[in-house]
Order: sequence, then structure tokens, then C-alpha cells
Amino acid sequence: MIAFEHAKQQLIRAPKTWLITGCAGFIGSNLLETLLKLGQKVVGLDNFSTGKQHNLTQVQQIVGAELWQQFRFIEADIRDPQACLNACEGVDYVLHQAALGSVPRSINDPIATNETNISGFLNMLVAAKEHKVSRFVYAASSSTYGDHPALPKQEANIGNPLSPYAVTKYVNELYSDVFSRCYGFNSVGLRYFNVFGPRQDPHGAYAAVIPKWTAAMIAGEDVAINGDGETSRDFCFVANAVQANILAALSSPEKSEVYNVAVGDRTSLNTLFHAIATSLKAEGVDYTKQPVYRDFRAGDVRHSQADIGKARSELGYEPSHTIGQGIAVAMPWYVKNNASVGN
Ligand SMILES: NC(=O)c1ccc[n+]([C@@H]2O[C@H](COP(=O)([O-])OP(=O)(O)OC[C@H]3O[C@@H](n4cnc5c(N)ncnc54)[C@H](O)[C@@H]3O)[C@@H](O)[C@H]2O)c1
Repeated sequence: MIAFEHAKQQLIRAPKTWLITGCAGFIGSNLLETLLKLGQKVVGLDNFSTGKQHNLTQVQQIVGAELWQQFRFIEADIRDPQACLNACEGVDYVLHQAALGSVPRSINDPIATNETNISGFLNMLVAAKEHKVSRFVYAASSSTYGDHPALPKQEANIGNPLSPYAVTKYVNELYSDVFSRCYGFNSVGLRYFNVFGPRQDPHGAYAAVIPKWTAAMIAGEDVAINGDGETSRDFCFVANAVQANILAALSSPEKSEVYNVAVGDRTSLNTLFHAIATSLKAEGVDYTKQPVYRDFRAGDVRHSQADIGKARSELGYEPSHTIGQGIAVAMPWYVKNNASVGN
């Protein structure tokens, strides 16, 4: 946390201009909230394909009118190269989050995932290079580890991708590497592991497990577990991802780099189910149903756990929240916002 405290003080003393793509989404809106609170100027770009206006409205309410004036929003699509170029003008740091997430979505519609996650990514990388931004940081993914069996996952050892989504995120890393070699433009990829927290969308077929189960429990509906429930993940509270982005933006890599962003822990779906139910109970939601077990889902890996040693030693990354501490922040938010989420 020492490196992060230093980074925040440095930014408060000398504010910068940031571009957040996907700023109306879950991670993007959390980045926006933190940067505005630090007195930074922020340009946000989003096409509202999965992001929501109410995420931006909530950040506006949290930071207040004065800090909100430091934010400029561009409704645009990263598949439009000119829009990417325009958005990068006068920007110091780019935090590129815009993408179509979800493994099942990519299996159902690989072309749409490819267009945004590869062509859109390349448009952003070119635009950032053309405008000579100080650092391009982008959302990579733990899905890049694919079928590699080793645990915990170390950045250098990846397997075969298990979904079109994983292919797109790996291609992002390849382009970043090649831009370093061909143009000397060094960027930083953050391999997020199951990020969760306030403003993560609980609705729709492609919702992530924590918001989806939370919404189901609040509504008193069945919770479905894919497989036997012993599948495990390194669930990462969003504040940890925000920290990693800021540290990565201020880093000075000699070549393009990728880092795991997680806690370094592993929680089974069965344990997660009970942790959410227990936390909701403290918020007055008493969920007494048992989970419904169904088939394993195509494209899912069995276990995932990060080695965060590289981010620790090279970025000074130190997770501020364990999964339990993150759930204790997220559950009250979902209970309080249940009426408005998904609007
Ligand atoms: N949440 C996780 O656990 C996780 C894990 C690994 C990687 N990631 C990556 O992190 C990033 C952010 O994910 P999130 O969970 O906040 O998802 P999200 O869906 O909430 O946010 C993505 C945002 O990108 C926007 N977007 C999508 N396509 C766009 C386009 N063509 N042009 C402009 N904007 C576009 C969406 O409207 C949305 O606001 C994504 O790149 C995702 O692949 C997330």
C-alpha cells in the first residue's frame, strides 16, 4: 500500500489527464470515481453497449458537482478509429477497459467479441501511440492462462485459450508486445482475475457470478451453481484493480509488460455461496434456499489462482481487500441499490 499512497500523493500534487474507455461500465466507473476524487481530469469514452448511464450518474452523486466538472464524456465506439484518435488528444494516461466481456457471449457471438476486443483494441493502441501518451494500460484477462494446469498462475506460463474471448485478450498482449518492438511504444496489460464490487451488472445472460447470485438471493430466487461447486477462483475486489491501474500508469517499463491482478487466494463456488448469504443476512436479507447444481459450463477452467509476485515487486501492488473484505463492501451496495440496478 506504500507505493499506492505515494502514487496518490504524486497525482494530487501534479494532476494529470486520463482517458478511461468503457467508463460507464463496472471497472471503468470505479476508476472514474477514484481519479476524480484525486482531483484528476478525466475523459471518458463509452458506447453504452453493456455500460449504463446510471453508473455515471452514481459517480456524479458521490463526487459532487465541483469534481464532476473535471470529467468530459464522449459517447463513441472504439470500432471507430477516428473516435479513438479524437479521444486521445491531450491525454497523459489511457486506461483501456472497453471490451465485450464474458466467455459465453464470445462463444455465442465470436465476431462481435472480435470486432470490439481486437479491432477496437488496435484502434485504441494506434491512437495512444500517435498521440504519444505517457502510458497505455489495458484490461487483459486471466482467461489467457487457458488450459495451463499450473497453480498459482505466473505471467510467463500460459496454455491454449479455451474461448474466443480468451483469444481476443491474448491477441491484445501480442499487439502490445509488437508495438514495443516495432515502435518502442511500451504498454501495460493487467490480467484481471474475477473482479467484483459495486456497480457490477447483476442482470442479463452474461452477468458475473457474484452480482448474479447476489441479485437472485435478494429476490429470493434460486441460485444455480455450474458443476459441483468445487470450481475455484481468485476473486478480486475492484479497489485492488483500481490500485493496479494507477500504479501501472505511473510505471516506466522498458518493454510492454503484463501483470496478474488478484489477491493470490482461491475460493470455491460453494464457499462463495455461503459467504454471500452470510453477508446478506447481516444486511437483513435472509436467504435459506440451497443452491441448485447443474452441468459444468463450456469454456470454464476448473481452478484459477494468481501469483501476484510480479505486480508486487515491479509495481508495488498490494491488495487492499481480501475477498471477505470486498464482499463486506459490495453486499450493502447491492441491497441499497437493488431497485435501481439494471435500469
Ligand atoms: N470484471 C472482470 O472480472 C474482468 C475480468 C477480466 C477482464 N476484464 C476486462 O475488464 C474490462 C472491463 O470489464 P467490466 O467488468 O467493467 O465490464 P463492463 O461490461 O461493465 O464494462 C465494459 C464497458 O465497455 C463498453 N464498451 C463495450 N464495447 C464498446 C465499444 N465497442 N466502444 C466503446 N465502449 C464499449 C461497455 O459499454 C461497458 O461500459 C473489459 O475489458 C473486460 O474484458 C474484466
